[in-house]
Amino acid sequence: MRMVFIGPPGAGKGTQAALLIQRYGLVHLSTGDMLRAARDAQTEIGKLADRYMSAGQLVPDDIILAIVKERLAAADCRTGYLLDGFPRTLAQAEALDRMLAETGEPLDVVLELRVPDEELFRRLSGRGRSDDKPEVIRQRLVAYRQQTEPLLDYYQQRRLLKTIDGMGTVEEIFQRIQQVVDSLGDRAGRHRK
Ligand code: AP5
Ligand code: MG
Repeated sequence: MRMVFIGPPGAGKGTQAALLIQRYGLVHLSTGDMLRAARDAQTEIGKLADRYMSAGQLVPDDIILAIVKERLAAADCRTGYLLDGFPRTLAQAEALDRMLAETGEPLDVVLELRVPDEELFRRLSGRGRSDDKPEVIRQRLVAYRQQTEPLLDYYQQRRLLKTIDGMGTVEEIFQRIQQVVDSLGDRAGRHRK
């Protein structure tokens, strides 16, 4: 199965991804994790990306697309993956569609995790990642509203979008996601492990 997670910062994408990849045998592809690994390894891409991440801004599309394209071509992605935090702009979504059209492997579902802003701040202020300072969280939310939310329409039009209430305990939210994924049509069922 090929899935995408969309949601604002702190919505619980990473938390739920960890459970989903186990349940459905998927590879977890988080562009945020990839960029933080590159930053920690002090690669040129990592140093460049850090300038944007620490300001709460999106990293330019060409950098992200190069990373994702290479990662998706790896053999472990053949059996299914969960994209967490990608795509995040319309240009990224269109590029992903072109990549998937080349291999004839369309997405099965796009899951939106919906959580009110007050709860996002509450969750992120208790975590302490370097981009979790209040002013950076605010900028990450602005980036989400302006650049990523338009993707909801994009995937709605393609009949791929499923919106999930992201409030409640981790286990409650995971149950909701499982219900949605398990009720997908035959197309997804054929890929399911
Ligand atoms: P990224 O790493 O993707 O961060 P994000 O989208 O801002 O979201 P987070 O990872 O902070 O939140 P999450 O939804 O994963 O929630 P989590 O499970 O951790 O991106 C970081 C940066 O990288 C971007 O700002 C950008 O610069 C760059 N970037 C990445 N991808 C890019 C792309 N495609 N294009 C351009 N730039 C890109 O949970 C958050 C906290 O809440 C945790 O402490 C968790 O324990 C807690 N929590 C989770 N669930 C619950 C619950 N149900 N109840 C209470 N607490 C909970
Ligand atoms: Mg995350």
